[in-house]
Amino acid sequence: MKQNLIMSFESSCDETSVAIIKNGNKILSNVVATQIKSHQRFGGVVPEVASRHHIEEITFCIRDAMKQANVTYDDLDAVAVTYGPGLVGALLIGVTAAKTVAWAHHLPLIPVNHLAGHIYAARFIKPIVFPALALVVSGGHTELVWMPKEGEFKIMGETRDDAAGEAYDKIGRVLGINYPAGPDVDKMAAKGHDTFHFPRAMDNDDNYDFSFSGLKSAFINTVHHAHQVHKKLNHDDLATSFQDAVIDVLVDKTMRALKKHPVKQLILAGGVAANHGLRSRLEKQVDQLSGTELIKAPLKLCGDNAAMIGAAGYIFYKEGIKADASLNADPGLEF
Ligand code: KG4
Ligand code: ZN
Repeated sequence: MKQNLIMSFESSCDETSVAIIKNGNKILSNVVATQIKSHQRFGGVVPEVASRHHIEEITFCIRDAMKQANVTYDDLDAVAVTYGPGLVGALLIGVTAAKTVAWAHHLPLIPVNHLAGHIYAARFIKPIVFPALALVVSGGHTELVWMPKEGEFKIMGETRDDAAGEAYDKIGRVLGINYPAGPDVDKMAAKGHDTFHFPRAMDNDDNYDFSFSGLKSAFINTVHHAHQVHKKLNHDDLATSFQDAVIDVLVDKTMRALKKHPVKQLILAGGVAANHGLRSRLEKQVDQLSGTELIKAPLKLCGDNAAMIGAAGYIFYKEGIKADASLNADPGLEF
């Protein structure tokens, strides 16, 4: 590599993002064009709307990322791109743009799994020390991922229905909160009390899987029932009760996994990793466990962004992982 400069692309859902990353851990630029406003009136992401926005934004993101980083195509060493999992039409825009840049400028193309990208956001804090465990919580995924070494991933447990972020967004809708509801529910939860005692599904099961749809239904039924009998419920208490239930299960299962399979680092990543309640509870619990260090993805890099794809891409590139012009979007990509 010349200057170890990677141009990275992320377009798996509702953010179009292009970044320039130096040495795998220094952000020269990280341009994120969010489409949230266009999806809000539908209460969630509309795939066709997302694809159209990506097409409109991608070239401007490339231009701005290069301008902010003050680089030319000649300075680049490689191109990294999210090729799954995600929305197929959305992924295709980033994959096509990345392939075009790589082909036109004779640069290697590095395929990156979106969830690996979320995990490798930790590298902007410090290098990952193995074995590591990652709790990846986002709008589309809730997974406990075992990492024996660089670039190797094994899913220990995952959600059997809704992802944690998806549950936040769905319960937020019945409270009249705009998509994505996570940040607002998080703020309200800091002000209320757990007065509703919602169910903690699968908390005592002897596995590392999660389930949030029962919690979501219990929440929505509670609100609808109160509405029918004209009873006013305290929204902050509802938020706290929901969030406590989510955090209890996420933290209980993670701590159990850590005790059974000790690791050097626990990485908290994904959009829901920005949750203040979750960050502080995990901090307290992991503090009591000697030998494991908690690495929380930087707050600004929890949501979808291309910087994290560049961080993962740098590692994969060093591991010799490369794609060619036949690279395709893989919406159901697994580790
Ligand atoms: O990782 P991400 O940007 O996109 C996916 O790959 O899904 O995650 C977005 C999700 C949304 O569901 C959003 O409501 C949730 O992350 N989220 C939060 C918080 N900030 C974002 N959930 C709970 N607390 C937050 N502070
Ligand atoms: Zn994501």
